[in-house]
Amino acid sequence: MIAYSDCPVRDVQISLQPSAKEIMEMDFLCFTLPWNEQDYREMQKQPSFNNWLLEIPDVCAVGMLAFQSVPPELEILRLGVHPDWRKRGLAEFMLEQLEILAKSDRIESLWLEVHAANKSAVSLYSKLAYKETGSRKNYFRNPSGGALLFKKLLKHDAWLMGWIY
Ligand SMILES: CC(C)(COP(=O)(O)OP(=O)(O)OC[C@H]1O[C@@H](n2cnc3c(N)ncnc32)[C@H](O)[C@@H]1OP(=O)(O)O)[C@@H](O)C(=O)NCCC(=O)NCCS
Repeated sequence: MIAYSDCPVRDVQISLQPSAKEIMEMDFLCFTLPWNEQDYREMQKQPSFNNWLLEIPDVCAVGMLAFQSVPPELEILRLGVHPDWRKRGLAEFMLEQLEILAKSDRIESLWLEVHAANKSAVSLYSKLAYKETGSRKNYFRNPSGGALLFKKLLKHDAWLMGWIY
């Protein structure tokens, strides 16, 4: 569990190892086609898989992030914020924290696929300097539609990467 003072919402914490049930419950609130508890149980067995549950202790869970990290790349699989807690900077906060972690793990790029009609997510990733690098037709169902691929190359300090000794 990590606590933050720089989050736009006070007292937020990230639970790094939520149960499959906890993360599924947040997924269910955020997505029209949720992953079920068994999906998460299976994913959580994979060493490359991570899921974060964003919580306000004694209040409620407010968001989630699931990703797969296979250096030098990290794929964002799910990013969701509780409908009652949107537009307060929480998604941006989670992505900022992800970048910090990714840099410390020597990840060079973050990427994801997003529904082409998902204006809020497209705006979010564009704001955070993710670049559209491609598209896939008829990729999603419920609602059906194409996917946009977004990628962000991370800037590393040379000494952190071991390029300067
Ligand atoms: C997309 C989502 C994660 C955004 O979460 P959020 O916490 O509300 O986003 P933030 O408050 O951090 O917003 C950051 C930026 O995202 C964009 N954004 C977020 N919500 C938006 C909306 N409703 N319309 C347009 N842009 C939006 C804006 O660029 C915003 O920056 P701004 O506040 O300066 O305008 C949230 O709407 C969600 O959970 N949606 C359902 C699940 C989903 O679609 N996930 C993404 C799949 S990859």
